[in-house]
Formats: sequence, C-alpha cells, structure tokens
Amino acid sequence: MRSYSLIAPAKINLYLEIIGDRPDGYHELAMILQSIGLADQIGVRSSSTDNIRVRCNHPQVPTDKSNLAYRAAELMVRQFPQAFAKYGGVEITVNKQIPVAAGLAGGSTNAAAVLVGIDLLWKLGLTQSELEELAGTLGSDVPFCIAGGTAIATGRGEQLSLLPNLDTMYIVLAKYRSLEVSTAWAYKTYRQQFSHSYIRDSDSLVARANAVHSKAIVKAILDKDAGEIAQKLHNDLERVVLSVYPQVLQLREVFANQEGVLGTMMSGSGPTVFALFKSQQQAEQVKLQVREAILDEDLELFVTRTITHGIQVASSV
Ligand code: C5P
Repeated sequence: MRSYSLIAPAKINLYLEIIGDRPDGYHELAMILQSIGLADQIGVRSSSTDNIRVRCNHPQVPTDKSNLAYRAAELMVRQFPQAFAKYGGVEITVNKQIPVAAGLAGGSTNAAAVLVGIDLLWKLGLTQSELEELAGTLGSDVPFCIAGGTAIATGRGEQLSLLPNLDTMYIVLAKYRSLEVSTAWAYKTYRQQFSHSYIRDSDSLVARANAVHSKAIVKAILDKDAGEIAQKLHNDLERVVLSVYPQVLQLREVFANQEGVLGTMMSGSGPTVFALFKSQQQAEQVKLQVREAILDEDLELFVTRTITHGIQVASSV
C-alpha cells in the first residue's frame, strides 16, 4: 500500500485589510499571503480499517474531528465514496513544527496536505482548481496553502490571484508559546469595534477588495523591492490584538528598534509577529538580540525565509 510524506508550509500575511461583512457571516478581505519555510510534515497512508485516524507529535493538537486535517479526510471520503471503498481508511500523521493558533495557517496547511495526499493515494487526478474548491469548504486559508508562493487573496480569502515569486527574504518569527489567539475572536472583536466603518453596499465591497491589485505593496512585489514591501506591510487585526495582548505590541516594538529589520508586523490574527530581512545573517543576529532583550523562556523565535511553493511531496513509498 502506498504512502506519501508531504511538506506543509506555514504562511504569513504581508497585507490584511478588512473591508466589510459578507452575507455568509464572514468578512470580505483583501490580503497578500506569503508561504514560508517553516513547515509541518504530513504522512498519509491507506489503512486496513475503514476509518480515519490522525496522530500528532504535539500534545495540544486534537486528533478528533476538531482537527482540520481530520475534516479534510472526511471531506474526501464524502466526495469520493467509491475510492474510499476501494482503498479503505486513511491514517494521517502530523509532525508539527508550526506553532498552533499562531496566525501562521498551521491547521489550514495540514488540511491542504491531506487533500493533496489523498488525491495521490486514491489516484484521483484532481486539478489544482478542483483541490482549491474543496479546500475552500474547509477554511478560508486552505486554498492558498495548496499552491502557496505569493498571492493576493480576496473574498473570504479563498479567491486567489498569484503574484510573481519574490527574491528570497529572511524572516524572524516570534511567538509566546502559551499565548494563542482565536481567529474567530479576533474578527468578532474587530466587528464589534469597527463595523461602523464597514462598506455596506455589496458592489462597493467587491470593488474595494479588488482595489488591492493597485496598492503600493503589490507594486513593490512586482518591482521585487524588499525594502518597499516591508514598509508597506499592513494588518487591520493589529487594531484589536495589540491592545488586548501587550506582549504582542512589545514584540512589534522590540523588532522595530533592531538594526537590519526592513519591516515588522503581526501575521493573520496573531499572536505571531514577524520581521523581514535582506540576509539570513541579519535575521540570525536580530533573533539573538530579541532573545537578550526579552528574557522570557515562553518566547519562541524562528529564523525562516520566503518560499515559492505550497504543499510538496517529500517522498512516497
Ligand atoms: O475560515 P476559517 O475557519 O479559517 O475562519 C475562522 C474564523 O475567522 C471564522 O469563523 C470567522 O469568524 C472569521 N473569519 C471572518 N472572515 C474571513 C475569514 C475568517 O470573519 N474572511
């Protein structure tokens, strides 16, 4: 029986703008998403039983239906009952490196890897757009995680428009281990505080989301101008998360004061804060400086870099 091992990269948000409410209860967004080298490893294999089983090396990650990777397998079983009957159950192993509830799409990228893995395992031959459509039913960031790279995401985050690959930028990620932020909480709180400024007319909502294509940060990406990209980072959710979590604000400030930092921002709904660099050496140096500036063992720091792909097969046996 074949099995696949897949690389499931995390993402950061270079840009996140909240435009208004959608009829489906979500927010209309304009985002720029970027895949990064920090990744989980996902194993997918057929099992002799007729059920789905998830195992994970991280004690905080659930292995039941509340895990998005489990729900991705369930979705495939529902969509392709004949393949399920032919190949049997699915065993999924998640080797977690990406911090949990961190604003890095850790759960979403695991689900994307399960979709890609089961497509291969069951020889379904789904196209990228078919995989992305399935992915969109699981979560707003899951479609991006399939192909990854650099992309504009509008709608709920599932409507993707690929941007050219960036020249490699280096990244330091900072996250307090015990600090988790719920994405639903962040959006709900934002709505409570700022919905008076939401665009209400549905045509204007879509027009505003599409206007992201002509933003300065997109021009900077097209120009491959790392300094300008870093100057134009933006995340509306900082408006709610930084005021409730002073530690996150402090990380932003500490990064901003280090030499070599091109720009710094919270990723997604947080609480991870990232800083961008031209060289790996500068990133490693600032990681050490932040470690010295904040003497707290709860603080996790990673050096990684921008990458140009989403889910990849590492090996198959
Ligand atoms: O789609 P996903 O499950 O990742 O979203 C998590 C939560 O974030 C949603 O339940 C919703 O409350 C909020 N959200 C939103 N608008 C979006 C994406 C997410 O309000 N476009």
